[in-house]
Amino acid sequence: MNTYIGIDLGTSAVKILLVNKLGKVLNSVNVTYPVNIPKINYSEQDPKRWWSATISGLKTLLSKTNKNDVKAISFSGQMHGLVMLDKKDNVIRPCILWNDNRSEEFTSLLNKNKKKLNSLTGNIAFNGFTAPKIMWVKKYEPNNFKKINKIMLPKDYLIYQFTHQFATDYSDAAGTLLLDVKNKKWSNEMLKIIGIKKEQLPKIYESYQVVSKINKDVALTLGLSKNVKIVAGGADNAIAAIGTNTIKNNSCNISLGTSGTLLIASDKYHDGRTLPIHSFNHATGKYYLMGCILSAASAYSWWNKIASTRVSQKISFTKNDVYFLPYLTGERCPYNDPNATGAFFNLRNNTTQEEMALAVLEGVTFALKDCLSIANDMGIKVLETTICGGGAKSNIWPKLIANILNVNVKLINADEGPGLGAAILAMVANKEYKSIEQATNKIVKVIKVIKKDALLVKYYQKKYLTYQRLYPLIKKI
Ligand code: XUL
Repeated sequence: MNTYIGIDLGTSAVKILLVNKLGKVLNSVNVTYPVNIPKINYSEQDPKRWWSATISGLKTLLSKTNKNDVKAISFSGQMHGLVMLDKKDNVIRPCILWNDNRSEEFTSLLNKNKKKLNSLTGNIAFNGFTAPKIMWVKKYEPNNFKKINKIMLPKDYLIYQFTHQFATDYSDAAGTLLLDVKNKKWSNEMLKIIGIKKEQLPKIYESYQVVSKINKDVALTLGLSKNVKIVAGGADNAIAAIGTNTIKNNSCNISLGTSGTLLIASDKYHDGRTLPIHSFNHATGKYYLMGCILSAASAYSWWNKIASTRVSQKISFTKNDVYFLPYLTGERCPYNDPNATGAFFNLRNNTTQEEMALAVLEGVTFALKDCLSIANDMGIKVLETTICGGGAKSNIWPKLIANILNVNVKLINADEGPGLGAAILAMVANKEYKSIEQATNKIVKVIKVIKKDALLVKYYQKKYLTYQRLYPLIKKI
């Protein structure tokens, strides 16, 4: 049977899946790599390390399989990262990642005219986005800036190694703040503002389009057929939405990874209205709205590292009056504040570690509710959501999402949204299915629904009001 590979280029690891056309995972491999933090607020990775991790992961993945069955490969990539190559295709400097906050000076500068920015791109600027990072390089590393021949996003670096084609897709291009999201083309005016040329940017594909066949050299290294198709893929959140069947208008997916995102698919373009929410292109060819918080499952990992106490199944939600602000690496939505910090509030001499652990999960979920509230203010209602990412494996977190966000939570048969989403795009590009929707309807199944509970919803509505008051109070000092 034909098989497909989905490569999810994450922040902590590259996660590679081999699946058959029914979406059954035949094998999976994770290869981890570090995030380098040379200074406070900096966050970098070496693109060459991504490539070596991908090749070694693929070798392991394919070691016990019929390599001739592999028909196509596609990608899901951490968003917004700035990868720059010189004329000889050398990486000029380490990639500046999505959670790097060094470019605040330029984010503020761009946001001085939010209306104009919004009219050109559908969005406002956030430190995580690519455009302010390019401006930072231009001012603080002028020699590197002069060397730029190609600017690309993290997964595009893998595409370039696989094909030698300079390619990206709309969902990833949207996160640069250089794309006219509504009209699906690079914004000449944004390029002028940033000071780069169109030739320095990749050609844009739909996520389900074939970029090219695999390079002969790479095919030989991996023992794959030289007819394997390399398919554009997209931004990890858009691809996770494919892997969780978040395609229909107003359907929602929440990703609980290093970052947390709440993504709402949309048939039509939403003008971001200068609000702290992202209006991007979906991997389906349509659009989505998304709120992104910088610490989600990573906040719980941080807590477990320092306290090693998790929330037990028996915990009573309504007996905990501890609060936690999850801004461990600043915050993107809704505050756009790189200097925001984490905080516990309401500690007493009988507070337990378990109550603090629950507060961490609640705090991250309240931050996601902040994102949902912006969409609600735009007139968008969400009644149910899927979840994916490391945090989705928890027994407790889905219940908190249901009751804090006042939605029903659909648990699905697939563990990892982005890897599966990428493999589904590979299938669609190879014409196993007529459309993405046909593929996801066949492959992604809801196995359980966590229903919200009216009393808990009420309890958390009250707790959320206090949570919302904490950040503005702390910001003052
Ligand atoms: C989304 C964002 C993160 C990264 C994580 O805007 O910055 O979710 O994509 O990989």
